[in-house]
Parts: sequence; structure tokens; C-alpha cells
Amino acid sequence: MQSKLPHVGTTIFSVMSALATEHNAINLSQGFPNFPISDTLKNLVNEALQADQVQYAPMPGRIDLRQQIAAQVLTKHGVAINPETEITITAGATQAIFTAIAALISAGDEVIMFDPAYDCYDPAVVLFGGKPVHLKLRFPSYQVDWNELDDKITDKTKLLILNNPNNPAGSVWNANDLLSLEQILQKHPQLYIISDEVYEYIQFEGTHQSVLKNEFIRSRSFVTYSFGKTLHVTGWKLGYCVAPELLTREFRKVHQFNVFCVNNTMQYAVAGYLQHANDLDTIASMYQRKRDLFINALANSRFTLLPCAGTYFCLADYSNITDEPDTEFAKRLTRENGVAAIPVSVFYEYLTDHKVLRFCFAKTDETLTAAAEKLCRI
Ligand SMILES: Cc1ncc(COP(=O)(O)O)c(C=O)c1O
Repeated sequence: MQSKLPHVGTTIFSVMSALATEHNAINLSQGFPNFPISDTLKNLVNEALQADQVQYAPMPGRIDLRQQIAAQVLTKHGVAINPETEITITAGATQAIFTAIAALISAGDEVIMFDPAYDCYDPAVVLFGGKPVHLKLRFPSYQVDWNELDDKITDKTKLLILNNPNNPAGSVWNANDLLSLEQILQKHPQLYIISDEVYEYIQFEGTHQSVLKNEFIRSRSFVTYSFGKTLHVTGWKLGYCVAPELLTREFRKVHQFNVFCVNNTMQYAVAGYLQHANDLDTIASMYQRKRDLFINALANSRFTLLPCAGTYFCLADYSNITDEPDTEFAKRLTRENGVAAIPVSVFYEYLTDHKVLRFCFAKTDETLTAAAEKLCRI
């Protein structure tokens, strides 16, 4: 069989997690929390099962969940989204992103994304015949160079994929970034946006500059979210896409033949949770405390921590320790020092190596302290 994705192999996340297991290392590589979720949410899952909420959900998702999301967007951004026509519940942000790309991209369309980029964007574009165009975030600030972007847009550019707060970089946008994006869209009427905002609740500085806040940008955007990140339930693979009615209509044409609908039981539980959730704004402070714990515990190490304004990842420059390529160093760190991390070069088209590793701090304090102790011995 001729591969449609000949360059895609096993992801580094699987490789590093397997290596961590093999060497009994502390796994700060893959991005998932290792602390328990709220009892209220667990009880709601039980309630859903007792209420036999186990059959198909409506194709766009349960309306009670979509209404809760609309209420949450109104509270957070002061923006009214129609739950009937502008929100679709998906199997995680990954399926939302894939579906938006499938709905939009045809052979020959160019899609601009910024490296270091989350790994699901590029292959989805390739599958639909699109041409990924990778620009780089400025190093070491990991900010978008809007002038460079403007220069790289051609009449074939159909889509920009943006991610704020950024995984793996931990960088976030300010209000000027939204204005720059708006100017670019004004200039290029053929452009659409996928704004990947899965870490919307994990921002430590300033307020989250969602594209939903800007009416003009929103009119051309698919904005994707993940309950996995917000409610610490990555294994549930539950997310959603917010997009204007016309875009949502096309999105749902793909969605209904891709999955039709997603996990009804978990949708019931999350809808119930959001109805009374008054703790979403505490997520950032919980993670900020973990970030600071980890960073402070590494103060006497030979790693240099880069700024982390959002997400539950922080980057560490290891150039004081060795000049080995980052992938080699990450593997050796796992084998010899007992801590697994992700080499940041894997998020670049041509494996740009700035000697930086990504550590996930969505872990218990004990795990973070134990990992930092090991890292301080290097
Ligand atoms: C930037 C980014 N986008 C999308 C996703 C995928 O989210 P989900 O697990 O809900 O599919 C992740 C998960 O790590 C992510 O970090």
C-alpha cells in the first residue's frame, strides 16, 4: 500500500513514554495530569450511567453541554455564541482540528503553521492534499512574527493554524497580537483561521487573548478546545469547536460522517459539572503554583528555565550541561537520570535544535519534587 503519510512514524510522545516505563523513569514527557479529578465529576459520571445515558448523543453534541459552553464563553469573553448553530462537541480538540482541516482544505491549498507546532496539524493538512508551510516563532521569546507571516501569505494560502497559549513553548499572546491578526485578515479575504486554544484556562500572565474576543477574526475562525486539558481528563478525549454558523455547517458535514457524535455519558457528566463549576478560574493558580514549585526546585540545577506564561509545560535550556542533540540527550536523561522529557526539535519541520527540553508540570507535588531532585544531580 502506498502511504499517504510516508514521513510519519511513531510519535516521540509514545517513544519517550515507553522509554520512561522501560527505565522506571519519572515521566514528565507526555502532557497528562497524574493527580485525581474532582469527586463531583466522578459522581456525575456515575449518575449518567445510573440514568442510562449510554446511547448516541445528538450529532452536534448534547444541547445541555453546548448551552453550558455558550454560558462559559459569555462569562469569560462577553461574547454571545449560539449553542444550536455555532458549537459542535468533538472527540477532543484533535478531532475538531482534523474536521476543520477536512472541511476546508483541498489539493494545492497552502496552510501556514508556526513551529514549534503541535504535532497533529501538519499530517491532517497533507492528508487532504494541502501544503503545510512552516514558519518559526521567534526564538527564544516564541512570539509570532506578524510581518514575516504577512510576507509569506500567497494567493494559495487558505488557512492559518494558531495556538495560544502555545504548546510546547509556553508563550501567550497580548492584545496587539489580535490586532495584528485582524490586520492580516483584512488584507487577505481568502484566509481562514484554526485557533487552537486548548490551554485557555492555563495562562499565568495577562488575560487569554482568544480570537473569540474579536468579532472580525471570529467570523472566519474555527476555535478548538479540550475538556481533557480544562478538567484534567485527557483520556476522555472530549472537546469542542466554536465557529460561525456557515463554517459550522460545513464542519458538521464532515463530523457526522467521521464520528457522527461523541461519548454521550461523558458529555452528560461535563454538562452537569459546568452547570455548577465555579472553579475554572482557579485552574491557572493551581498550575502556576506547580510551575513555581518545579522552577524553584531546579534553581540550583544546570538547566536554564525559559519563561512560561501559559500551558502546563515549561522549557529548559540544557546547553550548560552538554551539546548533544536534544533527542539524544532526552533519551539519555531517561535512561541514566530517571526523568523523561520531550526534545523540542520534534516540533519543528526540520528538527531545529535549540538545546531545549519540554517538561510537563501537570503532576503531583511529590512527582515534581522527585524529578527536580534527579535533575539537580546532573
Ligand atoms: C496544543 C494542543 N492542541 C491540541 C491538543 C489535543 O487535545 P485533545 O487531547 O483534546 O485532542 C493538545 C494535547 O496535548 C495540545 O497540546
